[in-house]
Amino acid sequence: MGNKHMNHDKMRNEHMSHDEVISLNDSTGENELKIPPILERDKGEGVEYTVRAQKGKTEIFDGTETNTYGYNGAFLGPVLRFSKGDTVKIRTINELDEETTFHWHGLEVPGDADGGPHDSLKPGEEKLIEFKVKQEASTLWFHPHPKGKTAEQVYNGLAGLIYIDDDHSKSLGLPNEYGKNDIPLIFQDRTFDEKRQLNYSAVKNDDGTVGDTLLINGTLNPKLTLKKEKVRLRLLNGSNARNYTFKLNTGDSFVQVATDGGFLNEPVTLKEMTLTPSERAEIVVDFSKIDSEKDLGLINEDGSILLPFEVSDQSGESSEVPGKMNDFSMTEEERNLPVTKEVELFGMMDQVTINGKKFDPERIDFTQEQGVTEVWEIYNKPDMMGGMIHPFHIHGTQFKILSRNGEEPPENERGWKDSISIQPDETVKIAIQFKNKGVYMFHCHILEHEDNGMMGQVKVE
Ligand code: C2O
Ligand code: CU
Ligand code: CU
Repeated sequence: MGNKHMNHDKMRNEHMSHDEVISLNDSTGENELKIPPILERDKGEGVEYTVRAQKGKTEIFDGTETNTYGYNGAFLGPVLRFSKGDTVKIRTINELDEETTFHWHGLEVPGDADGGPHDSLKPGEEKLIEFKVKQEASTLWFHPHPKGKTAEQVYNGLAGLIYIDDDHSKSLGLPNEYGKNDIPLIFQDRTFDEKRQLNYSAVKNDDGTVGDTLLINGTLNPKLTLKKEKVRLRLLNGSNARNYTFKLNTGDSFVQVATDGGFLNEPVTLKEMTLTPSERAEIVVDFSKIDSEKDLGLINEDGSILLPFEVSDQSGESSEVPGKMNDFSMTEEERNLPVTKEVELFGMMDQVTINGKKFDPERIDFTQEQGVTEVWEIYNKPDMMGGMIHPFHIHGTQFKILSRNGEEPPENERGWKDSISIQPDETVKIAIQFKNKGVYMFHCHILEHEDNGMMGQVKVE
């Protein structure tokens, strides 16, 4: 796999997110992919987990220390693994020198546990949160959400995964050996300065900060060593702004088994799959069927090498991808509900708005009754430059996509979602219900757009 060189002249472009001109360097595959640890429950009575946001130094490049942020460690965070039915208590502690919050992206939690911008902890402060896990098996994540500072804190390393398991997910027979054939993959692009530091203010772009260097689970130039078996990859686009279209370099197909919030009804066979920021997907690749004599890797749409695979001759576990995995459905009633909320996404750079307004923590934009399904219509209004994709996310719930421009959503979006890509001039209808009460954010998940005010609030009562 050859090395492509980044074009430095293309680095600074005011409107780069409109045509994403910074390309990613190929992974040389010199480092084995890091697998985040699974967070242990606290010992003794009382609080079950402790999650601290902290500063640290990380040897991303051999021999140099990069200043980073992390949860319970120097960089990124552990996986919080819950079972459906658990009552979870988490002691969240801010050990940073600045305010932060702890947001559980995709978790159906009461508003007071959601960690939106109202829930800011000052340096040294802590907060105990509690919630019951009622939703199905899925791959979710957590990250900070302080007003105007989310992008920078995520960029510096605050992000971690949440897994929910349930009896059903365990019975499916999918690959489930953590770190062996069930692999978490957090994709984030970064730019390092000449001192190999993350200097956010120097590279920040109001339309979405993209970098030339890919880190997967914080690993520079990662490769993944696997056995000849089916492997489940849990993909999170944890980037501030970059979109990825994942493919196998051999052109082989794979199956997608899960969306943001749960399993698809049936596996969907794909040759490529796109994730915009904050979206997740679980895919299964059958390495027993792919010629491992060849160079193998996960690549991006433009051909850049994201993650080379090294497949050993050893055969692994036998696992199954069952034909039927879930009973997600869209009822006639949901299809026929009138649109009760309209959301218009518009603008670029620091001029981004929702329904013509910027985020105001004092303003409630919508109200919705707990447990009642409504249809929201989200429209991405093009600008003079044509516009750009906005990944739209709503806190505290998983929703269903009813239609994209009046058409059924693609097969791999017929499952629970909490984030959706919306193309310029596209209208997406979703059926959405909140299980809990509270004030929840909805926003563009290009983190700079969110920080620049492309966010609103829905009060559920
Ligand atoms: Cu990933 Cu406001 O969320
Ligand atoms: Cu969220
Ligand atoms: Cu946006």
